[in-house]
Amino acid sequence: MRQKIIAGNWKMNNSNTESLSLLQELLNFNFPKDIRIIISPPYTQLGLVNEKLEKSNIEVASQNMHFADNGAYTGEISSSMIKSLGVFISILGHSERRTYFNETDESLKEKVDKAINENIEIIFCVGEKLSDRNSGNHFEHIKIQLEKTVFLQPAESWKKIIIAYEPIWAIGTGETASPKQVQEMHLFIRNIISENYSKTLADSISIIYGGSVKPSNANDIFSQSDVDGGLIGGASLKSKDFAAIVNAS
Ligand code: PGA
Repeated sequence: MRQKIIAGNWKMNNSNTESLSLLQELLNFNFPKDIRIIISPPYTQLGLVNEKLEKSNIEVASQNMHFADNGAYTGEISSSMIKSLGVFISILGHSERRTYFNETDESLKEKVDKAINENIEIIFCVGEKLSDRNSGNHFEHIKIQLEKTVFLQPAESWKKIIIAYEPIWAIGTGETASPKQVQEMHLFIRNIISENYSKTLADSISIIYGGSVKPSNANDIFSQSDVDGGLIGGASLKSKDFAAIVNAS
């Protein structure tokens, strides 16, 4: 079902103590029940954060996972490790992973396959560089990112797929895509899901936006008809900002 989702990507921030106090602040907010709230802490805090949120309706996601079951992959984390901590959601394909850690559509396809086989729900990120947008190639770029990964999945896998549109030029830069640019891309994504699968399926998928969402712009973006929420980086580290963004959705 198409659902409102607000996910906080903490990236590589916060000590255990800082994360626990941020969580405590979040738990003091009375978030609306009809919005799915997901927090994605660093790996080392997945267990801690999940335990702390056990009795709440806030869910936990990993920021990445490897496609192998186990083995000689220093510094990596497997789907079974995530699951053993009680975590069943993973962000995949974040542009920072693609840019700094050389993740490709090919390696992401492996990760998508693994996650789906392991019954892990994914928040799959796609997004174009400023040069793609300036050359008018942004729609094609997103289409290819989807075609090489999640579009290789059968329709039934889409129960476990959330798409996050995150234009790279808007991530952590303070520059947000305009509500019109966001709506245009989300509609494009929904339309190609419809072409590849069916309109019913496309209408059931949550497509969220990420890139410098803050309390002051959240409402304008979230009120677009094909926007189902957001993936929030910087502003998810401040409980008041995150709560204001949830309440704007
Ligand atoms: P930002 O990050 O909100 O800090 O731009 C978004 C993201 O990377 O998911």
